Amino acid sequence: MDFSALPTTAFIRPDGENRDEIASLLHQVVDLLVDAMAQAAARSPLPESLVSKTWSQLPQGAVDEDRLLKELRSQLFHSMNAAHPGYIGHMDSIPTTMSVIGDLLVAALNNNMLSVEMSPLFSRLETTVLQQITQLFGLGPQANGVLVSGGSLANLQALLVARNIAFNALDHGIPQGQQPVFFVSEVAHTSFKKAAMVMGLGTKAAIPVATNHNSQINLDDLKTRLTTAKNQGQTPFAIVATAGTTVTGSIDPIAEMANIAKAHQLWFHVDAAYGGAVMFSNHHRHQLAGIEQADSATFNPQKWLYVAKTCAMVMFRQFDLLQHQFRVLAPYMHDHDDWPNLGELTVQGTRHPDILKLWLSLQHIAKNGYSAIIDHNYALTQTFTTAVKARSFLTLASTPQMNLVCFRAEPAGLPIEEWDSWNQGLQQWLLEKGNTFLSLPIYRGQRWLKAVLLNPFTTAEHIHTLFAHIDCYHASHRSS
Ligand SMILES: Cc1ncc(COP(=O)(O)O)c(C=O)c1O
Repeated sequence: MDFSALPTTAFIRPDGENRDEIASLLHQVVDLLVDAMAQAAARSPLPESLVSKTWSQLPQGAVDEDRLLKELRSQLFHSMNAAHPGYIGHMDSIPTTMSVIGDLLVAALNNNMLSVEMSPLFSRLETTVLQQITQLFGLGPQANGVLVSGGSLANLQALLVARNIAFNALDHGIPQGQQPVFFVSEVAHTSFKKAAMVMGLGTKAAIPVATNHNSQINLDDLKTRLTTAKNQGQTPFAIVATAGTTVTGSIDPIAEMANIAKAHQLWFHVDAAYGGAVMFSNHHRHQLAGIEQADSATFNPQKWLYVAKTCAMVMFRQFDLLQHQFRVLAPYMHDHDDWPNLGELTVQGTRHPDILKLWLSLQHIAKNGYSAIIDHNYALTQTFTTAVKARSFLTLASTPQMNLVCFRAEPAGLPIEEWDSWNQGLQQWLLEKGNTFLSLPIYRGQRWLKAVLLNPFTTAEHIHTLFAHIDCYHASHRSS
């Protein structure tokens, strides 16, 4: 190979010839990264984005490294800034240091989670660590799980397995005339509709169940809808509980729903994509009581465990069901008796080794560290909620059960149809004047403000300052 058309640092040469050059380049990158992240609090939580002139064409010749480093610097400073203590609008967290290190290392190794021979160490590590997490969730001795790229894929895979079992659908699909349906909260994540669509059932197969004023599934409505579906000739195959809804962080009555699923011989899935982290807190894990009865559960360490994206898993009480009800053999892969080829057990084939950053974070922060952060988040939620309740012009969407507070202003004297735009104005004001980003979800048909108190560096002081800004906006926009 004639390497003259390539920059000398195009690859880290396996003969070590460009070691010093590579080391110098990486040191510059590390300095850049640390500079940017160590100043995250000094720029906006949502800096203005940019479209660089350099994106306009595919380069014919190599772009100079100094120019690329300059571009990278600009990208670091103009991207969404999840590390900022005022970035509290979504379930995006500051990443653990070990996540950053883990992703750097796995990129260098470029293993493939498709099979054991393509990732001999990481495949074994994933199967071992996920088993430990299933035990933390109390899923029993036969449980294990797989990492997937996000909670949507985790929910899809759980329902695929449930569907395959209920309809013996692995090889021949759904028998003619059957109309499979499953039941999920009306405020559940949109991934359930997507899953129903991807499974070929249509989004209407995800039957929405009514919720109470705290966004928790109404058990009577669940039972009624079950009966109605059967009477209409549909075939229910699963019930889904959510542990931490996307907008209000609400927890469905998991144990009661598990009992209903058992009574009707239905698969029971818990979407704990967000709330699963609570299992790491001795003070708060009781809130997820009943999750140990799940047939499957989704959990995203990329959210409340601060593992860099993506890092999500789907766990199964009877992991061997995947072998019989999901596995599609890759005959070009070597079989390892004791360790599964994970690409045969997931929708994805080639997959990034997300396990290293998860394992590193669990080793480094450990249960005690996570428990301390989660307890801090709950305490801050209390401070936030108290501040909302102290203001008569503010109202809560539900009583917070996790570290999400969904609220909005309903200013006296302002017509209801103007509340949405008033809250939208408040959101902008808080970003511009208060350096705080709250999101603006539509919930029950109206605009609300959502705070996710994830960042361990967000303090009570930040909350008090935020509410001072809210008061200021209220005082100056009373009748506008
Ligand atoms: C409760 C819940 N389930 C599932 C998901 C989907 O996760 P992902 O975006 O990783 O696909 C989310 C995302 O926010 C969520 O909040």
